[in-house]
Amino acid sequence: MDAPNTKTATLTVGNKTYDFPIQSGTVGPDVIDIAKLYAQSGMFTYDPGFTSTASCQSKITYIDGDAGVLEYRGYPIEQLAENGDFLETCYLLLYGELPTAAQKKDFDYRVIHHTMIHEQMARFFQGFRRDAHPMAVMVGCVGALAAFYHDSTDINDPQQRMIASMRMIAKVPTLAAMAYKYTIGQPFVYPKNSLSFAENFLHMCFAVPCEEYKINPVMADADHEQNASTSTVRIAGSSGANPFACIAAGIACLWGPAHGGANEAALNMLYGIGKVENIPDFIRKVKDKNSEVRLMGFGHRVYKNYDPRAKIMQKMCHAVLKETGHGDDPMLKVALELEKIALHDEYFISRKLYPNVDFYSGITLKAMGFPTSMFTVLFAVARTVGWISQWSEMIEDPQQKIGRPRQLYTGVTSREYVPMDKRK
Ligand code: CMC
Repeated sequence: MDAPNTKTATLTVGNKTYDFPIQSGTVGPDVIDIAKLYAQSGMFTYDPGFTSTASCQSKITYIDGDAGVLEYRGYPIEQLAENGDFLETCYLLLYGELPTAAQKKDFDYRVIHHTMIHEQMARFFQGFRRDAHPMAVMVGCVGALAAFYHDSTDINDPQQRMIASMRMIAKVPTLAAMAYKYTIGQPFVYPKNSLSFAENFLHMCFAVPCEEYKINPVMADADHEQNASTSTVRIAGSSGANPFACIAAGIACLWGPAHGGANEAALNMLYGIGKVENIPDFIRKVKDKNSEVRLMGFGHRVYKNYDPRAKIMQKMCHAVLKETGHGDDPMLKVALELEKIALHDEYFISRKLYPNVDFYSGITLKAMGFPTSMFTVLFAVARTVGWISQWSEMIEDPQQKIGRPRQLYTGVTSREYVPMDKRK
């Protein structure tokens, strides 16, 4: 933090008091620096799910969850989505500033010319069953990149870190497309340098050797502050693990339905509901505490307002449905009606549950021709740049330490070993 800290917080436990510095960022809530709490008081803090804990300093992404604000390096994402392309956002996240025309040209060239993967990596795929979930394939293959690109695994060398970052941004889409092609039994399609980054990805997914493919690209959701997968990447990286292994860890975390897996779960939910008439019954189940049914694509740990990504995705969803001729998709009708009902229902209003990005991304990706199992893979493709930018920032942070939370132990206290013949 750049601002000098003059404020302190005082903790009183019984008749003892402890003072802790308060640190201010450039915007957002202050933090109480409790790094010395254990040394001074012999106590830990307890915060399951890190609901009140800042795990690091960062200059990359800012979220104001109450106001529904999301900014990359200070720029609102709406402006970036409206005016720039995906690689411009990648440059901004990685380097901290928007590129000049010359920088952008050079960056695009470097990414686009590193999209091929080592030919031997293709053999990895044959080890997977054809019906393997593509996220399982991604966890394995992205981690395996470390076995092919040894020359960019020295995390203490800034040049190697940048090479690894560029490789990841360029090659993860290629692996994602290969994971898709493998599942459907089609030949892998090699990247084509004459295409833009997004066009190339769709080309690798949907082109076949025997036909021309018409391309309409879309990409979103490049970073999102210290979410579960980003924190996983940072924790994995805090031990000094190589960047390919760290991104594989992030992909594994993203897979869960409470995080990146929600887009797949949201679409499955819409199919489960089937038609508008079934919505009231479904909402009743969601509100029933004993049912464990959740409205997937709704709610967020940080946003207590409309997720700004959802607004962009909703607009994109309509555009994609129109472009692809799926404007009458019955699932969109169910989604819109579900959103309308939920936004007026006391259960959702009182808990500040609004649609998140995954409410619309599933329908959009479906209309683009992706099967549901690929949705989280596409999320991983877009998020790779965020993960790698956060990882680089962590490595360069002089305050960086290995991530090692403590616990509140509630198990059995010390006892003597009981030989087997004496156990009951
Ligand atoms: N449907 C119904 N009730 C919900 C939902 C939901 N989607 N989300 C939260 N609630 C209720 C929850 O039951 C609880 O009610 P009560 O106070 O009566 O016990 C209250 O709202 C607070 O929920 P919580 O689980 O304590 O909130 P959290 O911050 O731990 O969870 C969340 C955040 C995203 C995991 C959760 O809202 C959820 O499971 N949503 C559905 C999954 C989803 O769409 N995830 C994608 C998140 S956005 C993409 C990304 O960035 O990863």
